Amino acid sequence: MNCILSLDDTGYTVVVEPGVVNTVLDATVQAQGLYYPPDPSSGRSATIGGNIGANSGGAHCFKYGVTASYVAGLHIVLADGELLRIGGPAFDYPEYDLVGLLVGSEGTLAIVTEATLRLLRHPPAFRTLMAAFDSVETAGEAVSAVIGAGLIPAAMEMMDARIIAIVEQYAPAGLPIDAGAVLIVEVDGYTESVTAQIEEIATILQQRGAFELKIAQNQAERAAIWFGRKSAVGAMARLAPAYYLVDGTVPRSKLAQALADINTICDAEHLDVGYVFHAGDGNLHPLVLISDPTDTALMTRVHRAGQAIMALCVSMGGSITGEHGVGLEKRNYMGLMYNRDELNAMQTIKRVFDPQGRLNPAKIFPPDTAPVHEPATAAPTDCPQSPYAPENSEAAAAAIRAWSSAGLRIRVRGGGSQSALLPPSDVILSSTGLNYLLDDTPAELAVTVGAGMPLETLQQHLAQHRLWWPVASPWATSTVGGIVATASNAPLRMRYGGVRDLVLAVRVVLPDGTIIRMGRPVVKNVAGYDLVRLFTGAHGTLGLITEVTLKLAPIPRARATLILPVEHVQHGVQIGMRLRQQALIASAVLLVRGSPIPTGKPTPYQLLYTCEGPATQDVHTAIAQACAIAREEGATGVVFDNPSGSLLWSQMIGSWHPDVLVLRMGLPPGVFASVFPRLVDRYSRVAPADAPFIADLVSGQLSIAHAHHLNVWRHVAQTHGGYVIVLQAPPDQRDSVDRWGPQRQSNDLMRQIKAAWDAHGRFNPDAFVV
Ligand code: LAC
Ligand code: ZN
Repeated sequence: MNCILSLDDTGYTVVVEPGVVNTVLDATVQAQGLYYPPDPSSGRSATIGGNIGANSGGAHCFKYGVTASYVAGLHIVLADGELLRIGGPAFDYPEYDLVGLLVGSEGTLAIVTEATLRLLRHPPAFRTLMAAFDSVETAGEAVSAVIGAGLIPAAMEMMDARIIAIVEQYAPAGLPIDAGAVLIVEVDGYTESVTAQIEEIATILQQRGAFELKIAQNQAERAAIWFGRKSAVGAMARLAPAYYLVDGTVPRSKLAQALADINTICDAEHLDVGYVFHAGDGNLHPLVLISDPTDTALMTRVHRAGQAIMALCVSMGGSITGEHGVGLEKRNYMGLMYNRDELNAMQTIKRVFDPQGRLNPAKIFPPDTAPVHEPATAAPTDCPQSPYAPENSEAAAAAIRAWSSAGLRIRVRGGGSQSALLPPSDVILSSTGLNYLLDDTPAELAVTVGAGMPLETLQQHLAQHRLWWPVASPWATSTVGGIVATASNAPLRMRYGGVRDLVLAVRVVLPDGTIIRMGRPVVKNVAGYDLVRLFTGAHGTLGLITEVTLKLAPIPRARATLILPVEHVQHGVQIGMRLRQQALIASAVLLVRGSPIPTGKPTPYQLLYTCEGPATQDVHTAIAQACAIAREEGATGVVFDNPSGSLLWSQMIGSWHPDVLVLRMGLPPGVFASVFPRLVDRYSRVAPADAPFIADLVSGQLSIAHAHHLNVWRHVAQTHGGYVIVLQAPPDQRDSVDRWGPQRQSNDLMRQIKAAWDAHGRFNPDAFVV
């Protein structure tokens, strides 16, 4: 199964079979000007199926994230032979994130037979540098300084002296072999900006002790650097007949300390170790040399060191595996990271998918003999008064246990904007008391907060550090937990990823009152199933999210929006799709009816194109190109600093009266531009012509107020592989309206997952899974 089945260069997706090799996919999409960012170092032989199994990372995760962020849909075969389609080319299907759950499940939940992957525009320009430092510690501090300056390079990789020497011998790229450590930093963007970007980084590195610095002058030099880096592990064969490759992650700020501690561990065991690693992600690969693999005493020391390194990563708040997976080798270490309840939660999922344990047996989970720490158990309490707003996870758990043993049905409520559509239930559990800041280390680009914190409060706090959580909500009352529970995405997702890409860890009280913590404050963590993604967007049906760790971004140094007044939908779409094709740093491409922004020329529609980022020159270039395209299309617009596309999106949707019907249609982005104008046209004949809408040309989503004929919309959407959900309904329709539409193929699986944790269906009933 090694064919590339189809490539959609309008919808930015490619459909592949699992046996396609990374570099083959790379070459194919790049020929169309497109980019598939995950690039495991083994990409010359690794397959996409393997990438999906392990949720592969690689060198470019710092900017672009891991495989899970690029898998849109899967065809899978379940353990009983049933074929199933999950996800698909549209964004945000009303479905648990089964795709996110499958990615990284190491073949233990299902077999993947086909994958729909998302692509980006291939950056027009790259610059890559190598910088030499005295030690890995100084190089690590330089990495933090780059991040602290608000820059997001495409990659930041490090090698230590031992690896440099061997790589340079094997694949000469001009690495300074007398250095204690070498940092490889790459930036990408518009041609006009990459030189300024790399020079800014070079200055920071030099201030932080880089004593030699070389910028690749052409594609061949860049390729040589990457070839050397990606050959590092294989080249170790020149030093020893075998090696033990360790893969662990620590929060970025702990990198230097982690390296020092690992040296101590290896010294104590008299082991030779070299380092090659993804410095930007805190993902370490100590390589322990094995001079004689038949020496059992040596092997015992190697494994003892391996375990100590894992324990160290966990104690620093990191993970036992950043990208290589658990498999058989690390299953004994799962208990270092997860307690009995947490492992049980993952095993519940395994049993739903594969009750007889046929798929990849023995992987991931510790054998019964392995040590696992026991969770604390709390004494039973009395039922609290409803509505109840607990102030911590333990109080929430106690209430849930008390209510459920009394047989009561529990409604979960965040800010209230979404739960308003749900029928009443016996008691209400509100997250508003969970409004606190837990852990705040700006250098990590992560923050942990209580789920009840309002989004606005969070953003105000982060702004002090020149950071933000790059999401937006139409509703002023929205809480962080509510946004996570509903995975509600703004147009911003084209620039920063969706909510599911921006949640690193969650604490959840399951419907039986068990508290579990999933994920870690690191971007690369593939230890066990990704339940973080499963809970994100589950609409509170699988438990109460009490705390979340969020992935942050620097507040962009520059942002600008081109607003073009247009007379006809079709004209707007035509220009919009051309802008979409050139979009590289855009955070919105929207076609809007009923925009309140004055442009000096009142027209029924406006096209908005927002660009933003750390590289000011990129923003200037992008807007200048957009203006040129508009002129060619006979349109002239205005450039604003504010509002951005997402801000307008929030303000408009937030201003729609709560009693009108508001729909969201999601279509595969590849067909959106041809389908939605016809629908709007037809619809305008039956609804007020000034009924506002916002079309996100990149996500393929249309939000529309005052809609009628829900079934017609649904029919059209379904014909094209999309869906329609109801965001708001008039009071007289709230009880009867079908919010989520026809069942999807995955419905049985969703119900089984729900039932496994909530056998009586008392936890947030009637929501989402029905
Ligand atoms: C690398 C592999 C070992 O980073 O993950 O080279
Ligand atoms: Zn790696």
